Amino acid sequence: MRLKQQVMAKPVPKHIAIILDGNGRWAKRRNLPRHAGHKQGAINLQKITLEAHQLGIRFLSVYAFSTENWRRPKEEIDYLMNLPKIFEEEYKDNFKEYDIRVVFSGRRDRISQANLDLMQRVEEKTKDRKGLTLNVCLDYGSHDEITRAAKKVAEDVLNGQLTLASINEDVFASRLYTRDLPDVDLLIRTSGEVRLSNFLLWQVAYAEFYFTKVLWPSFSAKHLYKAIKHYQKRHRKFGGLKE
Ligand code: IPE
Ligand code: IPE
Ligand code: MG
Repeated sequence: MRLKQQVMAKPVPKHIAIILDGNGRWAKRRNLPRHAGHKQGAINLQKITLEAHQLGIRFLSVYAFSTENWRRPKEEIDYLMNLPKIFEEEYKDNFKEYDIRVVFSGRRDRISQANLDLMQRVEEKTKDRKGLTLNVCLDYGSHDEITRAAKKVAEDVLNGQLTLASINEDVFASRLYTRDLPDVDLLIRTSGEVRLSNFLLWQVAYAEFYFTKVLWPSFSAKHLYKAIKHYQKRHRKFGGLKE
């Protein structure tokens, strides 16, 4: 049986999260400027999203720009911040055909007005779609997300909407950017780095982790099948015992 069929014959993860890393190194190896890597990375994002949808994955979260990535040169930041425009201009038709819903997670106070308008338009246009939900994490960082959620909970206690006794995990999670998404089942990081870099710390509490040396622009459908196959072999116990 081909790898794809093997993967599809078993339950697939409901929510996959990917740390899209290695664009710069991909470009460097080809003697290209870093932005060429980001361009190829964006092309690959569309491909892998459609592939994940075909496999029956319901939610795909991708780390596109971290709260720390503002430390990069302005030129590179400008290029990376072009992603929402690429969505509207280049992904539009395929996303419509495949019924892909797009949401953005992260801070909204440092993004340009033009980009905010674009992001809102994309979210609004795709909000009723029933296919895969692509959660694009842009100016996203877990420390920021968790701190904000804590502030919102405190605010709601102060204004009387919440009592101290009613605060529980669900109440807290409903104040996170990812409030409408289930927890992550499988986390993938490309490029060989073995760290989380402030990504979805709350949401990966029980995720299986898969690290690969493949650089994001080269991460193909076959690599995705391999990652899922690896996941399907693991026995998730959630703190219980193995039967
Ligand atoms: C991932 O590739 C893209 C973002 C972080 C936005 P990098 O730009 O981090 O690529 P490397 O790690 O330098 O190769
Ligand atoms: C993580 O990659 C952020 C994104 C992929 C958007 P980085 O390349 O920024 O992370 P570090 O600096 O290697 O931890
Ligand atoms: Mg990197």
